[in-house]
Order: sequence, then C-alpha cells, then structure tokens
Amino acid sequence: MGSWLRRTAELSRIRLFRLGATAVAALILVAAPALAKDWGMGAANRQIARGAVFSPVSTPASAIATLALFTLAITGAIFLTVGGLLLYSLVRFRARPNDEPREPAQIYGSSPIEFAWTAIPVLIVFVLAMTTIRTIYDVQAASEPPNAMHVRVIAHQWWWEFWYPDYGIVTANELHVPLSDPAHPTPTWLVLESADVAHSFWVPRLAGKTDVIPNKINTMWIDPHEAGIYLGQCAEFCGTEHAMMLIRVVVEPRPIFDQWVAAQRLPAAAQTAALERGRQVFQGNACASCHTVKGTFASGTYGPDLTHLMSRQTIGSGVAMNTPEHLKIWLRDPAQMKPGVLMPAMNLQENELNDLVTWMVTLK
Ligand code: CUA
Repeated sequence: MGSWLRRTAELSRIRLFRLGATAVAALILVAAPALAKDWGMGAANRQIARGAVFSPVSTPASAIATLALFTLAITGAIFLTVGGLLLYSLVRFRARPNDEPREPAQIYGSSPIEFAWTAIPVLIVFVLAMTTIRTIYDVQAASEPPNAMHVRVIAHQWWWEFWYPDYGIVTANELHVPLSDPAHPTPTWLVLESADVAHSFWVPRLAGKTDVIPNKINTMWIDPHEAGIYLGQCAEFCGTEHAMMLIRVVVEPRPIFDQWVAAQRLPAAAQTAALERGRQVFQGNACASCHTVKGTFASGTYGPDLTHLMSRQTIGSGVAMNTPEHLKIWLRDPAQMKPGVLMPAMNLQENELNDLVTWMVTLK
C-alpha cells in the first residue's frame, strides 16, 4: 500500500513538472518574437543615465524621495524593534526539556505599559501624517512663478501630445523643457487632459504620478536641475498598448531649448519637385485626415503632428528609434511594431512606401 502511494505521488510530481515545463516553453514561444525585436530601443535607452524615484533631479521628486526615505527609516526602526524583541523572546523563553509542565505566570493590567504602547504609535502616526501633509502641500500647492513655462499635455490611446501655448508649437511623446537653475528656478507648469480614457503621467526622476482623466484638468510642475533625457511612462492601465505609451523628457540648457523652439516654429521643410511624389502619397491617402504637417493641407488632429517628425528620437510613442527603415516598417503596418495601435495599415505599394519615407525624412 505504501509503495503504491509513493508511486502515485511520484507520478503526479512528474505530471506537474511536465505541465510547468510546457507552460514555460509556451510563454517563451509567445514572448520571444516580441523580445527579439526592440527596434533599437534597448541600445538607445542604455545610453540614458539610470535612476528612478531614489535619484530625483527635480524639486517635487526630491520632496517625495525624502518623505519616502523618512517613512522607510521610521517603519524600518519599528520593524527591527518589534522583530528583535520577538526573536529575543522566542529564543530566551523557548521550551526546554526539564521545564515544569504548567502555564507561566499570567500578568494583567499595567498602566505604564498600556500608556506607552498607545502613546508611542499615536505619536509616530502623527509625525508621519504631518510630514506627508507638508510634502503634499509643498508639491501641490506651490504657486506658479511668473516666469514659469506652460505645457498642455493631452493623453491619447496610446501617445502623448504636448502643446506649448507660450510658443504656439505642438509636438508628441518627447517633451522638451529648459533646465532650471535651483538659485533662479524656471519651472515648467503642466496642465494634463485626456482625449479618451484615464491615463497617468509619470516621469519618476522629475515628479510623482499625476492621473490624466477625461473631463478633468489636473496640473503638476517640474524644475529639472540636470540636463539630460528622462524616461517616463503612462502609469494607469489604458488599453492594449498601455505599456507602449512612453515619455521622453529632454531637459536642455536655455539656449539649446530656445533653438529647439525656434526650429519647431518653422513650417515644414521646403518641398522640392523630387519629393512631390511622397507628399502626394501622404495627401492622397488617409494620412492627412489624422495628421498635421504645416505647409501642406494635412491638418488632422487625431494623430501626432508630423511637421517636425524627424526632430524626434523615437516613433510610435517610444516603440522604435526614428530611422527611415523603422518608419517604412511602421508605415507598411504599424501593428507589426505596436499591436492594437489605432493607426491602420494603409496597404501602400512598395514604391509608394519608398516615396512616402523619402518625403517624411525631410520633415526635420
Ligand atoms: Cu495611457 Cu496607460
């Protein structure tokens, strides 16, 4: 009987192992094609300095990181104290072979101890609440200085639109902001709106998350102290491509930022006869009803403004590096790079695709 039980247990272990191995193999098969092609993003993102919530470079993110460390220190001390006392008691008062078989002394009622274990937690909660309220107040109630720059952020499934009302320009997915000197802050004030469902704007090194909600306007601000590129993402599940709704914040010293603004204000690159065919493809298909290219009649607003497409490092909201080869793959069938994307495949012929890409790469 015993050996039969052992044999059955062994068989079910083997079955379980086989099931597990099959599941892992299936997962790898499904995930492999997606992992194999990152369209140059992995290599590009490795060039960007690492760091997340614990290496802030902007005042709101610093305030949150400080509060997080403070909370961690207090709760860590509580954990060590309680855990230490528990461990000490377990060892010191463990059962021993020659113990008498009776209950230990039962002690009830000690006003000093009861007072202590009520008062100390109340004090701790009070301190944590006060510091949290203060941080929230510092970040959310900060008044906007007169020299603040403004950006209107509009979240879409699944990309970001950035309007600069002070300059009359618009871009997508890559937010450029000027460096802010802590001695003379020049912060950027963001107004966040959604075109469809709930999203959340999060660039961990610059600020906390702010939800972007339909029919509601939220605000936040950043004042980056270090030039560089900061990665962010949508932090609220918003549909199929939620994970590919990435943000790049490009922080530049003021003169370089001003150059970027000046370039963005220009109309699209001059159109030569050689590029005419590509422009015809763009205007002759549905492209023009969803995208704007200033200087052409394309003035759609459903998709990103493409007037200065080539000034961006990535396409598809951070799904691929912006190269002519990737553009061509994207234009042939965007879903190949971003399954579920709302831009349809336009079924263009090979020569139309080539003409289109040749024209698009002039949109600097
Ligand atoms: Cu947008 Cu998640």
